[in-house]
Amino acid sequence: MELFYALAPAYWGQGLATEAAGAAVDWGFANLAVREIQAFTRREHAASRWVLEKLGLRHLGETDRYYGETLAAYGVPRPE
Ligand SMILES: CC(C)(COP(=O)(O)OP(=O)(O)OC[C@H]1O[C@@H](n2cnc3c(N)ncnc32)[C@H](O)[C@@H]1OP(=O)(O)O)[C@@H](O)C(=O)NCCC(=O)NCCS
Repeated sequence: MELFYALAPAYWGQGLATEAAGAAVDWGFANLAVREIQAFTRREHAASRWVLEKLGLRHLGETDRYYGETLAAYGVPRPE
């Protein structure tokens, strides 16, 4: 299960991505029978990486499995 978000630049820097992505992770674990939620971001996109880390997603390494480029992979297991 993948967490995906993108926000128009005019709306960056207001905490919206953290709030929306956090709500999506909470909703996912509450409503879907998934063991883990993952997210993938460009390696150089520090703001996006920090959003994921703030939400408790752990850096899993790099992958070239999706979207035709090498991306940083993050994941969080279902809470106990
Ligand atoms: C990633 C993205 C959603 C950020 O949106 P946002 O609403 O500005 O994010 P937030 O305000 O919730 O949080 C951004 C955090 O990164 C920090 N940040 C901003 N620029 C940064 C930089 N260059 N380096 C490190 N951290 C940075 C901010 O200070 C903030 O952290 P803080 O709350 O501890 O201060 C936006 O940049 C985007 O749409 N990017 C393109 C799509 C994308 O990368 N999608 C990810 C797919 S998983």
